[in-house]
Amino acid sequence: MLLKDDVAIITGGGSARGIGRATAQLFAEQGARVAVLDIDEARAQQVGRELGDAHRGYRCDVTNQSEVVTVFRQVAEELGPPTILVNNAGVTQPKRIDQVTLSDYDIVVDVSLRGAFLCSQAVLPYMRQCGRGSIVCISSLSAKRGGGIFGGPHYSAAKAGMLGLTRALARDLAPENIRVNAIAPGLVDTDITGGQISAERMAAIIRDIPLGRIAQPLDVARACLFFASELAGYVTGEVMDVNGGSHID
Ligand SMILES: NC(=O)c1ccc[n+]([C@@H]2O[C@H](COP(=O)([O-])OP(=O)(O)OC[C@H]3O[C@@H](n4cnc5c(N)ncnc54)[C@H](O)[C@@H]3O)[C@@H](O)[C@H]2O)c1
Repeated sequence: MLLKDDVAIITGGGSARGIGRATAQLFAEQGARVAVLDIDEARAQQVGRELGDAHRGYRCDVTNQSEVVTVFRQVAEELGPPTILVNNAGVTQPKRIDQVTLSDYDIVVDVSLRGAFLCSQAVLPYMRQCGRGSIVCISSLSAKRGGGIFGGPHYSAAKAGMLGLTRALARDLAPENIRVNAIAPGLVDTDITGGQISAERMAAIIRDIPLGRIAQPLDVARACLFFASELAGYVTGEVMDVNGGSHID
Protein backbone atom coordinates (compact mmCIF):
# COMPACT_ATOMS: atom_id res chain seq x y z
CA MET A 1 0.00 0.00 0.00
CA LEU A 2 1.62 3.20 -1.18
CA LEU A 3 -0.73 5.71 0.49
CA LYS A 4 -1.71 4.12 3.79
CA ASP A 5 -0.83 7.21 5.85
CA ASP A 6 -2.38 9.74 3.48
CA VAL A 7 -5.51 11.80 3.14
CA ALA A 8 -6.06 12.84 -0.48
CA ILE A 9 -8.25 15.61 -1.88
CA ILE A 10 -9.23 15.12 -5.52
CA THR A 11 -11.09 17.97 -7.22
CA GLY A 12 -13.54 17.30 -10.04
CA GLY A 13 -13.81 13.69 -8.90
CA GLY A 14 -17.56 13.30 -9.32
CA SER A 15 -17.61 12.38 -13.00
CA ALA A 16 -18.42 8.65 -13.27
CA ARG A 17 -16.01 7.96 -16.16
CA GLY A 18 -13.54 10.73 -15.32
CA ILE A 19 -9.86 10.92 -14.44
CA GLY A 20 -10.68 12.15 -10.92
CA ARG A 21 -12.96 9.18 -10.22
CA ALA A 22 -10.31 6.69 -11.45
CA THR A 23 -7.65 8.42 -9.34
CA ALA A 24 -9.88 8.37 -6.26
CA GLN A 25 -10.45 4.63 -6.71
CA LEU A 26 -6.75 3.87 -7.17
CA PHE A 27 -5.75 6.01 -4.19
CA ALA A 28 -8.38 4.28 -2.02
CA GLU A 29 -7.04 0.88 -3.11
CA GLN A 30 -3.59 2.08 -2.03
CA GLY A 31 -4.83 2.89 1.50
CA ALA A 32 -5.54 6.63 1.31
CA ARG A 33 -8.63 8.22 2.83
CA VAL A 34 -10.07 10.11 -0.12
CA ALA A 35 -12.11 13.32 -0.25
CA VAL A 36 -13.83 13.64 -3.62
CA LEU A 37 -14.75 17.24 -4.41
CA ASP A 38 -17.00 18.32 -7.25
CA ILE A 39 -19.25 21.24 -8.14
CA ASP A 40 -21.92 18.55 -8.57
CA GLU A 41 -22.68 17.61 -4.96
CA ALA A 42 -24.79 14.53 -5.68
CA ARG A 43 -22.14 13.02 -7.92
CA ALA A 44 -19.33 13.77 -5.45
CA GLN A 45 -21.27 12.09 -2.66
CA GLN A 46 -22.15 9.15 -4.88
CA VAL A 47 -18.46 8.53 -5.63
CA GLY A 48 -17.62 8.96 -1.92
CA ARG A 49 -20.19 6.26 -1.06
CA GLU A 50 -18.96 3.93 -3.80
CA LEU A 51 -15.40 4.17 -2.48
CA GLY A 52 -16.47 3.03 0.99
CA ASP A 53 -16.73 4.16 4.62
CA ALA A 54 -13.29 5.75 4.92
CA HIS A 55 -14.02 8.18 2.09
CA ARG A 56 -16.31 11.18 1.54
CA GLY A 57 -17.73 13.29 -1.24
CA TYR A 58 -18.15 17.06 -0.89
CA ARG A 59 -19.62 19.82 -3.02
CA CYS A 60 -16.91 22.36 -3.83
CA ASP A 61 -16.67 24.93 -6.60
CA VAL A 62 -12.90 25.27 -6.91
CA THR A 63 -13.20 28.82 -8.25
CA ASN A 64 -14.82 30.04 -5.02
CA GLN A 65 -12.19 30.81 -2.39
CA SER A 66 -14.41 30.77 0.69
CA GLU A 67 -16.01 27.48 -0.39
CA VAL A 68 -12.57 25.93 -0.97
CA VAL A 69 -11.24 27.03 2.43
CA THR A 70 -14.38 25.81 4.22
CA VAL A 71 -14.43 22.40 2.50
CA PHE A 72 -10.71 21.80 3.07
CA ARG A 73 -11.25 22.53 6.79
CA GLN A 74 -14.16 20.08 6.81
CA VAL A 75 -12.02 17.40 5.15
CA ALA A 76 -9.27 17.92 7.73
CA GLU A 77 -11.79 17.55 10.56
CA GLU A 78 -13.57 14.51 9.11
CA LEU A 79 -10.78 12.52 7.41
CA GLY A 80 -7.61 14.09 8.81
CA PRO A 81 -5.23 16.73 7.43
CA PRO A 82 -4.74 16.30 3.67
CA THR A 83 -1.25 15.29 2.53
CA ILE A 84 -2.17 14.91 -1.16
CA LEU A 85 -4.02 17.29 -3.49
CA VAL A 86 -4.90 16.46 -7.08
CA ASN A 87 -5.98 19.59 -8.99
CA ASN A 88 -8.11 17.75 -11.53
CA ALA A 89 -11.28 19.85 -12.02
CA GLY A 90 -11.42 21.25 -15.52
CA VAL A 91 -13.76 22.17 -18.35
CA THR A 92 -13.05 22.54 -22.04
CA GLN A 93 -14.72 23.92 -25.17
CA PRO A 94 -13.93 23.25 -28.84
CA LYS A 95 -13.93 26.91 -29.90
CA ARG A 96 -11.70 29.04 -32.10
CA ILE A 97 -10.36 32.38 -30.86
CA ASP A 98 -13.08 34.49 -32.47
CA GLN A 99 -15.81 32.30 -30.95
CA VAL A 100 -14.56 32.54 -27.35
CA THR A 101 -16.64 34.96 -25.28
CA LEU A 102 -15.37 36.53 -22.09
CA SER A 103 -17.58 34.22 -20.05
CA ASP A 104 -16.17 31.19 -21.96
CA TYR A 105 -12.69 32.45 -21.15
CA ASP A 106 -13.55 32.97 -17.48
CA ILE A 107 -15.01 29.52 -16.92
CA VAL A 108 -12.32 27.59 -18.77
CA VAL A 109 -9.39 29.50 -17.27
CA ASP A 110 -10.89 29.81 -13.80
CA VAL A 111 -11.77 26.16 -13.21
CA SER A 112 -8.32 24.91 -14.22
CA LEU A 113 -5.98 27.73 -13.19
CA ARG A 114 -7.69 29.77 -10.50
CA GLY A 115 -9.00 26.48 -9.06
CA ALA A 116 -5.53 24.95 -8.90
CA PHE A 117 -4.18 28.16 -7.37
CA LEU A 118 -6.87 28.43 -4.69
CA CYS A 119 -6.80 24.73 -3.77
CA SER A 120 -2.99 24.70 -3.55
CA GLN A 121 -3.13 27.73 -1.25
CA ALA A 122 -5.85 26.17 0.90
CA VAL A 123 -4.09 22.83 1.36
CA LEU A 124 -0.80 24.31 2.57
CA PRO A 125 -1.59 24.74 6.28
CA TYR A 126 -2.44 21.03 6.50
CA MET A 127 0.61 19.86 4.59
CA ARG A 128 2.77 22.08 6.80
CA GLN A 129 1.13 20.59 9.86
CA CYS A 130 2.09 17.11 8.55
CA GLY A 131 5.59 18.18 7.48
CA ARG A 132 5.07 16.81 3.97
CA GLY A 133 2.79 16.91 0.96
CA SER A 134 2.34 16.20 -2.73
CA ILE A 135 0.33 18.34 -5.14
CA VAL A 136 -0.46 17.02 -8.63
CA CYS A 137 -1.88 19.31 -11.32
CA ILE A 138 -3.73 17.82 -14.28
CA SER A 139 -2.64 19.93 -17.22
CA SER A 140 -2.93 18.76 -20.84
CA LEU A 141 -0.97 17.97 -23.97
CA SER A 142 -2.84 21.02 -25.26
CA ALA A 143 -0.56 23.19 -23.08
CA LYS A 144 2.48 21.98 -25.00
CA ARG A 145 1.07 21.69 -28.52
CA GLY A 146 -1.32 24.65 -28.53
CA GLY A 147 -4.42 22.48 -28.66
CA GLY A 148 -5.13 20.65 -31.88
CA ILE A 149 -7.44 17.93 -30.61
CA PHE A 150 -10.43 19.47 -28.85
CA GLY A 151 -9.93 22.47 -26.53
CA GLY A 152 -9.72 26.06 -27.73
CA PRO A 153 -6.98 28.66 -27.12
CA HIS A 154 -8.40 29.59 -23.71
CA TYR A 155 -8.05 25.92 -22.68
CA SER A 156 -4.43 25.72 -23.91
CA ALA A 157 -3.66 28.95 -22.06
CA ALA A 158 -5.23 27.70 -18.83
CA LYS A 159 -3.37 24.38 -18.99
CA ALA A 160 -0.06 26.09 -19.84
CA GLY A 161 -0.68 28.39 -16.87
CA MET A 162 -0.95 25.31 -14.67
CA LEU A 163 2.54 24.25 -15.76
CA GLY A 164 3.96 27.63 -14.71
CA LEU A 165 2.11 27.39 -11.42
CA THR A 166 3.43 23.86 -10.87
CA ARG A 167 7.03 24.91 -11.42
CA ALA A 168 6.77 28.01 -9.22
CA LEU A 169 5.12 26.11 -6.38
CA ALA A 170 7.66 23.28 -6.69
CA ARG A 171 10.52 25.74 -6.22
CA ASP A 172 8.80 27.62 -3.43
CA LEU A 173 7.58 24.65 -1.40
CA ALA A 174 10.45 22.15 -1.74
CA PRO A 175 12.15 23.42 1.46
CA GLU A 176 8.95 22.49 3.30
CA ASN A 177 8.99 18.94 1.89
CA ILE A 178 6.00 19.63 -0.35
CA ARG A 179 6.43 18.36 -3.92
CA VAL A 180 4.46 19.74 -6.84
CA ASN A 181 4.22 18.03 -10.23
CA ALA A 182 1.97 18.02 -13.28
CA ILE A 183 0.61 15.55 -15.79
CA ALA A 184 -0.03 16.38 -19.44
CA PRO A 185 -2.46 13.77 -20.80
CA GLY A 186 -3.33 13.42 -24.46
CA LEU A 187 -6.92 12.50 -25.30
CA VAL A 188 -8.51 10.42 -22.53
CA ASP A 189 -11.68 8.36 -22.85
CA THR A 190 -13.95 10.42 -20.53
CA ASP A 191 -17.12 12.48 -20.93
CA ILE A 192 -15.36 15.87 -21.03
CA THR A 193 -15.76 16.14 -24.81
CA GLY A 194 -19.50 15.44 -24.51
CA GLY A 195 -19.44 12.99 -27.41
CA GLN A 196 -18.49 15.79 -29.82
CA ILE A 197 -15.63 13.90 -31.53
CA SER A 198 -16.91 12.04 -34.61
CA ALA A 199 -15.90 8.41 -35.26
CA GLU A 200 -13.95 9.55 -38.31
CA ARG A 201 -12.02 12.18 -36.35
CA MET A 202 -11.36 9.68 -33.56
CA ALA A 203 -9.89 7.20 -36.05
CA ALA A 204 -7.60 9.95 -37.38
CA ILE A 205 -6.51 10.87 -33.83
CA ILE A 206 -5.72 7.22 -33.05
CA ARG A 207 -3.71 6.85 -36.27
CA ASP A 208 -1.41 9.58 -34.91
CA ILE A 209 -0.79 7.84 -31.57
CA PRO A 210 2.18 5.44 -31.66
CA LEU A 211 0.70 3.21 -28.92
CA GLY A 212 -2.42 2.88 -31.09
CA ARG A 213 -5.14 3.93 -28.64
CA ILE A 214 -6.33 6.93 -26.65
CA ALA A 215 -5.74 6.92 -22.87
CA GLN A 216 -8.05 5.39 -20.32
CA PRO A 217 -8.59 7.33 -17.07
CA LEU A 218 -6.58 4.68 -15.20
CA ASP A 219 -3.51 5.50 -17.32
CA VAL A 220 -3.59 9.02 -15.88
CA ALA A 221 -4.54 7.83 -12.38
CA ARG A 222 -1.40 5.65 -12.29
CA ALA A 223 0.77 8.66 -13.13
CA CYS A 224 -0.99 10.55 -10.29
CA LEU A 225 -0.19 7.69 -7.93
CA PHE A 226 3.48 7.86 -8.85
CA PHE A 227 3.68 11.60 -8.11
CA ALA A 228 1.51 11.39 -5.00
CA SER A 229 3.49 8.57 -3.40
CA GLU A 230 7.03 8.16 -2.12
CA LEU A 231 7.90 6.52 -5.46
CA ALA A 232 8.40 10.13 -6.57
CA GLY A 233 9.97 11.25 -3.28
CA TYR A 234 12.82 13.04 -5.09
CA VAL A 235 10.75 14.40 -7.99
CA THR A 236 9.35 17.93 -7.99
CA GLY A 237 8.58 20.53 -10.67
CA GLU A 238 8.23 17.75 -13.27
CA VAL A 239 5.66 17.38 -16.04
CA MET A 240 4.84 13.82 -17.09
CA ASP A 241 3.46 13.19 -20.58
CA VAL A 242 0.77 10.50 -20.68
CA ASN A 243 -0.03 10.49 -24.38
CA GLY A 244 0.87 7.13 -25.93
CA GLY A 245 3.87 8.70 -27.65
CA SER A 246 1.81 11.17 -29.68
CA HIS A 247 4.06 14.00 -28.53
CA ILE A 248 7.67 13.27 -27.67
CA ASP A 249 9.89 16.20 -26.69
N1 LIG B 1 -10.31 13.82 -21.09
C1 LIG B 1 -9.27 14.29 -21.74
O1 LIG B 1 -9.06 14.01 -22.93
C2 LIG B 1 -8.27 15.17 -21.02
C3 LIG B 1 -7.02 15.39 -21.61
C4 LIG B 1 -6.11 16.21 -20.97
C5 LIG B 1 -6.44 16.79 -19.76
N2 LIG B 1 -7.65 16.57 -19.22
C6 LIG B 1 -7.96 17.24 -17.94
O2 LIG B 1 -8.22 16.24 -16.97
C7 LIG B 1 -9.10 16.77 -15.98
C8 LIG B 1 -10.25 15.82 -15.77
O3 LIG B 1 -10.94 15.70 -17.00
P1 LIG B 1 -11.99 14.54 -17.34
O4 LIG B 1 -11.75 14.21 -18.74
O5 LIG B 1 -11.98 13.50 -16.28
O6 LIG B 1 -13.33 15.42 -17.30
P2 LIG B 1 -14.78 15.18 -16.69
O7 LIG B 1 -15.65 16.18 -17.37
O8 LIG B 1 -15.15 13.75 -16.75
O9 LIG B 1 -14.58 15.60 -15.18
C9 LIG B 1 -14.36 16.93 -14.79
C10 LIG B 1 -15.09 17.17 -13.47
O10 LIG B 1 -14.82 18.52 -13.04
C11 LIG B 1 -16.00 18.99 -12.42
N3 LIG B 1 -16.00 20.45 -12.34
C12 LIG B 1 -16.25 21.34 -13.34
N4 LIG B 1 -16.20 22.60 -12.86
C13 LIG B 1 -15.90 22.50 -11.54
C14 LIG B 1 -15.70 23.45 -10.51
N5 LIG B 1 -15.83 24.77 -10.73
N6 LIG B 1 -15.37 23.00 -9.28
C15 LIG B 1 -15.26 21.67 -9.05
N7 LIG B 1 -15.46 20.72 -9.97
C16 LIG B 1 -15.76 21.14 -11.21
C17 LIG B 1 -17.12 18.44 -13.29
O11 LIG B 1 -18.38 18.47 -12.61
C18 LIG B 1 -16.62 17.04 -13.60
O12 LIG B 1 -17.09 16.09 -12.65
C19 LIG B 1 -9.52 18.15 -16.49
O13 LIG B 1 -8.73 19.15 -15.86
C20 LIG B 1 -9.19 18.09 -17.96
O14 LIG B 1 -8.95 19.37 -18.50
C21 LIG B 1 -8.58 15.77 -19.80
